[in-house]
Amino acid sequence: MTRSRNRNPILVAIDTADLDRARSLARALAGAVGGIKLGLEFFNAHGPDGVRAVAGDRGDLFLDLKYHDIPNTVAGAVRAAIALRPMILNVHASGGAAMMRAAREAAISEAVRLGIPGPKLIAVTVLTSMDGSDVAAVGQIGPVAEQVVRLARLTRDCGLDGVVCSPREIAAIRAACGPDFTLVVPGIRPAGAETGDQKRVMTPREAMAAGADFLVIGRPIAGAADPVAAAGAILAEIDGA
Ligand code: C5P
Repeated sequence: MTRSRNRNPILVAIDTADLDRARSLARALAGAVGGIKLGLEFFNAHGPDGVRAVAGDRGDLFLDLKYHDIPNTVAGAVRAAIALRPMILNVHASGGAAMMRAAREAAISEAVRLGIPGPKLIAVTVLTSMDGSDVAAVGQIGPVAEQVVRLARLTRDCGLDGVVCSPREIAAIRAACGPDFTLVVPGIRPAGAETGDQKRVMTPREAMAAGADFLVIGRPIAGAADPVAAAGAILAEIDGA
């Protein structure tokens, strides 16, 4: 099973603007998940200080801020973010090759300067909220599945470490980009769980078997009565228990 690639592949999405709740969830789940994901909602409410308060120095943070701007500006944003010691950081692949290369160079050079491990730098290909007509309306060439693979290849060619992708995109990207390309996969629901607003879901076990490296899981863990138990049950499911 692919689990051996990653001791604990679960990244719990802490989607809240409530600092105390984020801090207590992160603390409670420290030994139960492989990392925590903080995104735009939390960051815009609490900024870098909030990130430090929740993630500290534990080294397991996925800072999900999806940069997309001119290369110089993205490089500056990445450089500033490295001080937060993210394990994973992301940009939009549609920002283009020069932007992705600038982000990579900034991540590596700033991590070296600070003497800390560099993050995995990954890209968003096509937002999973977009369908074929949305992609066409912004002038991208479809079908969506082909555009996803096109942008994943560009990401790899720019030297980035991987992409965020939906469960249904895992196989095609893995085939196109090889075994060492990191696939971070949201849209995961344990068997029998509420799907909420996620429409195209896979179970944790299915997604790992398909070739995921990390699973981004929010509500099934963060919204559970006992988040630690929920994370443990998901790991057990991945291991086939
Ligand atoms: O609660 P749930 O498990 O649906 O949370 C999934 C997390 O992954 C959320 O933080 C969501 O924003 C994020 N995400 C997603 N689909 C994507 C990209 C990110 O659900 N395509």
